[in-house]
Amino acid sequence: MSFKKRTVNCGELNEKNVGNFVVLNGWAATVRNLGGLIFIDVRDRFGITQVVFEPENNPELAERAKEIKSEYVVWISGKVRLRSNPNKNIPTGLIEILAEDFAIINKSELPPFPIEDGIETNEETKLKYRYLDLRRPELQKKLIVRNSLYQIIHKYYKNNNFIEIETPVLMKSTPEGARDFLVPSRINKGKFYALPQSPQIFKQILMISGFDRYMQIVKCFRDEDLRSDRQPEFTQVDVEMSFIERDDILEITEGLFATIWDELLGIKIPLPIKRMTYSDAMNKYGSDKPDLRFDMQINHLNQVVKNSEFKVFQDVISNDGLIGSINVKGGASLSRKIIDELTEFAKKYGAKGLAWLKFVDGECNSPIAKFLTNDEIQFIKETNNASDGDLILISSDNKMRALTILGALRLEIAKRMGILEQVKNKFEFLWVVDFPLFEYDEELGRYFAMHHPFTSPHEEDLKYLDSQPSKVRAKAYDIVCNGAEIGGGSIRIYDNEIQQKMFDKLGLTEQEIEEKFGFLIKALKFGAPPHGGIALGLDRIAMIITGTDNIRDVIAFPKTTSGLSLMDGSPSEVELSQLYELGIDLYKKQ
Ligand code: AMO
Ligand code: AMP
Repeated sequence: MSFKKRTVNCGELNEKNVGNFVVLNGWAATVRNLGGLIFIDVRDRFGITQVVFEPENNPELAERAKEIKSEYVVWISGKVRLRSNPNKNIPTGLIEILAEDFAIINKSELPPFPIEDGIETNEETKLKYRYLDLRRPELQKKLIVRNSLYQIIHKYYKNNNFIEIETPVLMKSTPEGARDFLVPSRINKGKFYALPQSPQIFKQILMISGFDRYMQIVKCFRDEDLRSDRQPEFTQVDVEMSFIERDDILEITEGLFATIWDELLGIKIPLPIKRMTYSDAMNKYGSDKPDLRFDMQINHLNQVVKNSEFKVFQDVISNDGLIGSINVKGGASLSRKIIDELTEFAKKYGAKGLAWLKFVDGECNSPIAKFLTNDEIQFIKETNNASDGDLILISSDNKMRALTILGALRLEIAKRMGILEQVKNKFEFLWVVDFPLFEYDEELGRYFAMHHPFTSPHEEDLKYLDSQPSKVRAKAYDIVCNGAEIGGGSIRIYDNEIQQKMFDKLGLTEQEIEEKFGFLIKALKFGAPPHGGIALGLDRIAMIITGTDNIRDVIAFPKTTSGLSLMDGSPSEVELSQLYELGIDLYKKQ
């Protein structure tokens, strides 16, 4: 089928082009037949241009134009002229094309939903017909911004003398914490590759090879439970550097964020980016990724109520727990029903209860007032810097749990009270540093590496490695923006003795070490330079830049939260012969 090639795109014409003869190619976005006059909006990725067919001008052409339906592919030629009723909302809104000729290049079935921004359509239908959803200007814009991100990132690292090196997609599993996606080997029956959870080990090995400054925009795969900011395959900006200290990595990374925000949003991020220790982040915000766009810090009340006769407080104090509180400014207006909902919300995080105090007209209204002295109430009020009209929420529990509960409540309240809406155009970056080296798993009764087992401890904490492992801080850091973890990394261990100690603490046997990452341990013995790095979540950065809270909006072909690709129907069953060839017998539950 022949078609006339476009001379202009659908987003570039304006009043300066009046009188020009042009050809457009694109999709018929909307077709309006106004008693003879036919208006067709032609859409391509650059924009939308209005075309008009006038029967009095060319009756035969106007008659033929009636065949054009929504989402048909067309070429249309004609003359640019000023519109009689201009649309100031779109760049081409002052002009239209008076059609002189056209042809339908291809027809389209009736789309299952209108291809327009702001349309409420069932999410599953949109994912099934992703190619149609991707015709929507809003989604196209987001992917185009994502493309700009790649360009800026590559240019930035190139300017800073980094080299991009591809690492294998079929590899041995790396110990990153999530489950691996496995790929069976046909040639080596019974053996499996793993898809990389990250190129961690390879980038460290590249440092041993002398590649000094490495970067890669790379797909990573993790078989974990999905959420609105998590996909099973996602993209990292992966970075590793040699002969550096922590602050060199932080500085290079800050430079990248400053460049991205400047080039894409015209916003100057104040540098250096604030830093907060993990311990401060937990104690003040109940989160290792605090949203600093608003305040509402956690106040610790143990000292204030240490002599209280209230049993809930007494128990926690004698068990070394925490009585923590947040002050909800203006929260006294929240109804009993909402406070009950917040209590239920807290219970999801393991709370046994949620105490509250409302201050109204100089009086304190609280279900626990009867257990407290007037002085205690006064102290609680002062510690929280509360005044009339405020609501204090108190969680009393094991320290980490109380902090987590209050941290979650802080965010929930910010959402419910419209605080997040007020700060939605703000960007607050933060480095969270000095994470603990180990995490203790109560159930399994053993330590795990909080970041990964190659993360270096702080030298001055090495003395606690045997006696109090949980006190050892790691040279690990996360970068947080508006409460989202957008990257994380660490300085690595390059001393074999320390690495060995680390494995001992993690309870890994010689054999396990050899099996899991013997090749890295071996490589580290051949002259490893001091090195460290970071990986940034590209999808999450794209989410923040484009202002969406759904990671699927910035990925062309995403999976659902149950890991399905509704468009192509993966994952799917395979032919028995394929399994046979791979030497795989499916395990069936009786
Ligand atoms: P980490 O596991 O912290 O570090 O991952 C780095 C960043 O990747 C993003 N991210 C994800 N984004 C979308 N979907 C997911 N499922 C997902 N998982 C992680 C986050 C996160 O901060 N090798 C180390 C880095 C290093 O030490 O250099 C690593 O992978 O934004
Ligand atoms: P109780 O004595 O269990 O009836 O609790 C009295 C008050 O203390 C109620 O308002 C509970 O919501 C609150 N409360 C109970 N347990 C906790 C807790 N762990 N932290 C904070 N408040 C609690």
